[in-house]
Amino acid sequence: MLADVSIYLLSFLLSVGSAALAKAVPPAFRRPASDAVDHVDPIIGNGGVIPSHTGGMIPSTAPPFAMTRWVAQTRQNYVSVPPYILTDTSIHGFQGTHQPAIWMGESGQVIVVPGAGNIRSKFEDRGMTFDKGTEVRTASYYSVELDALGGGTILAEQSATSRVGHLRFTFQHTSTPYVIVEATRAAVVGHTDTTNTTLHIGSIRIDPHAREICGSNPERQDSIIGPLSTPARGFSGYFCARFAQPFASWGVATNGTTHAGVTRRDDRLLSGFATFAPFTKVVDVRIGVSFISIEQARRNLDREIPDSETLEATARKTRVAWAEKLDRIQLEGATEKQKTIFYTGFFHSLQYPYETSEEGRYYSGFDDQVHQGDSYNGYSIWDTFRAEWAWLILFAPERMPGMITSMLNDFKEVCPSFLDFHAGLIRVDREVGFQNGRTSSVGTHADSQISEAVVKGVRGFDLELAWQAVVKDASVPPVDDNTTIYGDRQENVDYEVRSGLSTVYAQNGWVASDVHSEAGSCTLDYSYDDYAISLFADVLNKTEDAQFYRDRGLGNPFKIFNDATGFMEARNANGSFAGPDAGWTEGDKWIYTFDVVQNIPELARRRGGNANFVQFLDEHFDGAHNQHTNEPSHHIPYLYGLVNASSKTQERVRSIAVTDYDDTPTGLLGNEDCGQMSAWYLFSALGFYPVDPASGNYVIGSPFFDKATIRLPGVARPLVISSPGAPSQIYVKTSVINGEKISNSIIAHEQLIHGGELQFEMSLVVV
Ligand SMILES: *[C@@H]1O[C@H](CO)[C@@H](O)[C@H](O)[C@H]1NC(C)=O
Ligand SMILES: *[C@@H]1O[C@H](CO)[C@@H](O)[C@H](O)[C@H]1NC(C)=O
Ligand SMILES: *[C@@H]1O[C@H](CO)[C@@H](O)[C@H](O)[C@H]1NC(C)=O
Ligand SMILES: *[C@@H]1O[C@H](CO)[C@@H](O)[C@H](O)[C@H]1NC(C)=O
Ligand SMILES: *[C@@H]1O[C@H](CO)[C@@H](O)[C@H](O)[C@H]1NC(C)=O
Ligand SMILES: *[C@@H]1O[C@H](CO)[C@@H](O)[C@H](O)[C@H]1NC(C)=O
Repeated sequence: MLADVSIYLLSFLLSVGSAALAKAVPPAFRRPASDAVDHVDPIIGNGGVIPSHTGGMIPSTAPPFAMTRWVAQTRQNYVSVPPYILTDTSIHGFQGTHQPAIWMGESGQVIVVPGAGNIRSKFEDRGMTFDKGTEVRTASYYSVELDALGGGTILAEQSATSRVGHLRFTFQHTSTPYVIVEATRAAVVGHTDTTNTTLHIGSIRIDPHAREICGSNPERQDSIIGPLSTPARGFSGYFCARFAQPFASWGVATNGTTHAGVTRRDDRLLSGFATFAPFTKVVDVRIGVSFISIEQARRNLDREIPDSETLEATARKTRVAWAEKLDRIQLEGATEKQKTIFYTGFFHSLQYPYETSEEGRYYSGFDDQVHQGDSYNGYSIWDTFRAEWAWLILFAPERMPGMITSMLNDFKEVCPSFLDFHAGLIRVDREVGFQNGRTSSVGTHADSQISEAVVKGVRGFDLELAWQAVVKDASVPPVDDNTTIYGDRQENVDYEVRSGLSTVYAQNGWVASDVHSEAGSCTLDYSYDDYAISLFADVLNKTEDAQFYRDRGLGNPFKIFNDATGFMEARNANGSFAGPDAGWTEGDKWIYTFDVVQNIPELARRRGGNANFVQFLDEHFDGAHNQHTNEPSHHIPYLYGLVNASSKTQERVRSIAVTDYDDTPTGLLGNEDCGQMSAWYLFSALGFYPVDPASGNYVIGSPFFDKATIRLPGVARPLVISSPGAPSQIYVKTSVINGEKISNSIIAHEQLIHGGELQFEMSLVVV
């Protein structure tokens, strides 16, 4: 998904160059040994003139799927702006962030700021310069040497577990040390006008004897683009910071004014602070976070990082959690650079969705209540249904029942009875801050994700409820379907779900371009979701439903195929074509004409047969129409493989892997989008890609390395992918899975998931 970047165009003039300089990781933070984790470089995806176009990632520390990620704060984050940008020159604190990706804003964050001398609580006043050469950036540990205001230095070290940040500050030659815990700030509203801010009332509660500064922060920047019916009024991020050192003094600060000795305050622009005895060298603080209560934040703290635990122990635990995942793939024949790209991508792919349940309970923004059960957030479904979800099914199967149950919990909480037609649909997207069903992007690809999981044998969730949910997505339009156009990021409207369903799609098979925004993309994306539902119906033996949705899914895309031009083209309610440029979501007629992965044979037929279709694909790529920087193009290079032209898939894939990915800060040429950019690389490097994810099939590409040995979670036998010579030979001569020759470029999920051997015979020339 593309973020709005207009602000950057104005404010970014610096280029990154060699700014990625960093210090070597101290040996204490490189244990236990893991070559894979050592190849994670968290600065990849955080560089360049427009950070949004280079991944929008931050060098954060946290374990896989962590509830909160911790990062040095170099600027105020909001929609399209992350809290850390490499080219910035000062650090203003350390932020426990819930912003899942650059294009969505922050929610319920807490910021911890070390300092010395006079208390400087305001963002503008507290920034400390630093030498980038002193930064250590890893998956589990971050440190930097800050120039303290008033002289001396502060070595700041950071690690984190899922719900607790762990920071250690070492003061050298400074005046009296203090630490600020910021609850509320001036929150930027929306993403176009940075001067438009809101002041939220948060709380601070200080217990000097317990050495605690706790509180809450209700900031939620995405509320303006969420559905009207679920405003989540009770939302707050709660925190409880506990220090290892006794307080010398304490108080709160409001808008930069300190109030010494005050221990309770509810206010805007609010922070709490504690000072420490002069000459205190080290201050160690752990910050539990929660979406339920301060008490729960404290419980999370005690459970995840008990009082005696050192920062070294926390960092080690988090490193072990990463090693447990990343060591599952061992590569042979990869260069250092390729390993760095690969394992950093693997690291990115296992950050989202992030867990939001705490001791088996979670806060739901749909009904403003705390419930029992599993919960996750940050799905970014329009992006991740393509390949990231397939990657999670392979490498995080233990999370799948919880992730799907979490989606179904939303469904239940929005609409306990099925009579309320305008709600209760699986969200279009559950991206951030408990604000679901936002009106950005199109389709209800939760249908695809759930159907894909069902087809691939994932169980452990309520299958019948899942069926009801996807059918409701596909059959119940938004209540204001005839009066709202549902533009991209349209503010102050309700759940978009499948806009246009009632007007024309259900009867004629297309979304009317003169009634709804993005109508061409909607038609194609709804069709894919319908097709995915038909596969779910097959598993349940619901023959009639399967037929109904299959007809819609396979047939409807061609209702908007314009035979006169050979391209897809949105149509108006009366059937007239709306013109080649109307009705596309983050794409154009070139990209969207290929958005019919469920029925490529028919597309090829309409384009005059396989040979002509191959030529059409060539025109698409050679004419620079492919935009790998954004998701709708991701499957296109693999389409050659479906029309007997695999060698061209192999050429295109190898080329994109070089042009759009590298091991520098600007190494991701598009937004990471909760792992989708990386999932493309990871699958491609292994030699196959889920072009039609719900089908459970992968299309063969060109493996990059001589050998990959994969230990899938819960599978005894490793999956060994051997492709000797692949580093220099890009063409696949033959491919064999467990002794069986692959004849049509397709491998089934079922053929991979019990381990075994996938053998590619590579060739230097087209075969
Ligand atoms: C600030 O943003 C809010 C929410 O988008 C909007 O309602 C309000 O009009 C904006 N204010 C200004 C001064 O632009
Ligand atoms: C905060 O203080 C600044 C001056 O430092 C002032 O301009 C601003 O209006 C104050 N904001 C609030 C909300 O009091
Ligand atoms: C929209 O209008 C159509 C045609 O007039 C009607 O059949 C449909 O029920 C309306 N949809 C909604 C959600 O009101
Ligand atoms: C569907 O039918 C097949 C074959 O008759 C059977 O094995 C399977 O258990 C059925 N599945 C369900 C969910 O009824
Ligand atoms: C069909 O609808 C379009 C868009 O509303 C309009 O411009 C066109 O004149 C209509 N054509 C007919 C034949 O009614
Ligand atoms: C596939 O392409 C090759 C040439 O590249 C050709 O010899 C072969 O007949 C084609 N097969 C089919 C099924 O079209």
